[in-house]
Amino acid sequence: MRILLEKFTKKFGNLTVIDEMDLEVRDGEMLALLGGSGCGKSTTLFAICGIHKVNSGRIMFGDRDVTNITSQERNVGVVFQSFALYPHMTVEDNIGFPLKIRKESKAEIRRKVDEIAEMMHIEPFLKRRPGELSGGQQQRVALARALIRRPDVLLLDEPLANLDATLRLEMRSEIRRIQQETGITAILVTHDQVEAMSMCDRIAIMDAGKIVQICPPREMYTNPVSDYVAGFLGSPPIAFLSGQIQDGNFVEPSTGTKMPVTAAIATSHAGREVRVGIRPEYFQPDGATKIKGVVSFIEAQGRETLYDVTLPDGNILRSIQGAHSPVNIGDEVEWGVNTEHMLVFDQDGRRI
Ligand SMILES: Nc1ncnc2c1ncn2[C@@H]1O[C@H](COP(=O)(O)OP(=O)(O)OP(=O)(O)O)[C@@H](O)[C@H]1O
Ligand SMILES: [Mg+2]
Repeated sequence: MRILLEKFTKKFGNLTVIDEMDLEVRDGEMLALLGGSGCGKSTTLFAICGIHKVNSGRIMFGDRDVTNITSQERNVGVVFQSFALYPHMTVEDNIGFPLKIRKESKAEIRRKVDEIAEMMHIEPFLKRRPGELSGGQQQRVALARALIRRPDVLLLDEPLANLDATLRLEMRSEIRRIQQETGITAILVTHDQVEAMSMCDRIAIMDAGKIVQICPPREMYTNPVSDYVAGFLGSPPIAFLSGQIQDGNFVEPSTGTKMPVTAAIATSHAGREVRVGIRPEYFQPDGATKIKGVVSFIEAQGRETLYDVTLPDGNILRSIQGAHSPVNIGDEVEWGVNTEHMLVFDQDGRRI
């Protein structure tokens, strides 16, 4: 079921939180809604599921205009960060509750609960109460309850935020598997970029109530439209340096290092101040364009090691290396930037 927001606007009092947002979620797609705290992710989800009324604009599910109909009539499945299971009911009754409200027969509810429990691998827990389950098990129950009505749309708001790292990893692939098996159209709100990249077909990045870029994860990583987007994806994050374009190069002011830029940028921004973004995988001991700095931080992450190299003006370049470099904090190094992958931004943060 395709979801379409047209000029969706949401205000709280005088505060415009979402300003004429256009958004399309394609049929069968899982879309991540990613962005900083307070940018309007949950507000958007609440409007789609019908909890919030919109101030103006339209929400379409397929060909159906759902802008002014109730949450129940929209047939959405919702899972929020706090699972909100009914503590006094068994798992079985929790999952079957939406059907009970619809007055479906006991036998029918039983059959559907069994079916969804099998899919979610929670059959052994059906007779227990939520308090007798682990966080991940409760999360699966919440998902089962959201899915049992066969909703047209699945809305997930930080569904994994309460789980520990291992469970989060497990649930990521679990949710993705179920979404793909059922072919349901889903929106995942998160501020975890790894979650967004690993689970979703496309990512929409929001900033101050607007969508600033929407595309597949890999494309967003390599081709961000702005420094804001570039900074959002990637762990460890991209490093930024400021300097000038001179004679076909970006010149790093504190070392005088010249990093070649494309002919187009050399011409269009000659003599202008710009910012370049360098991802940690493109700053390496064997990189082509050498720059001197002092190792200021080392973190062994198991398979890889992360290094910070501080330039004379205090700016930091990050490097992530598979092979361990024999350096210590305080050592001077001369490593190289792979400038082909350098991202260049104008002073307003727009990619050039
Ligand atoms: N019921 C409300 N009344 C007034 N203001 C609200 C209400 N709900 C949200 N806001 C405001 O709207 C803005 C967007 O909030 P929202 O909850 O959508 O952010 P978010 O992107 O989900 O953030 P987070 O990542 O912290 O969950 C915030 O400035 C918030 O303070
Ligand atoms: Mg939120």
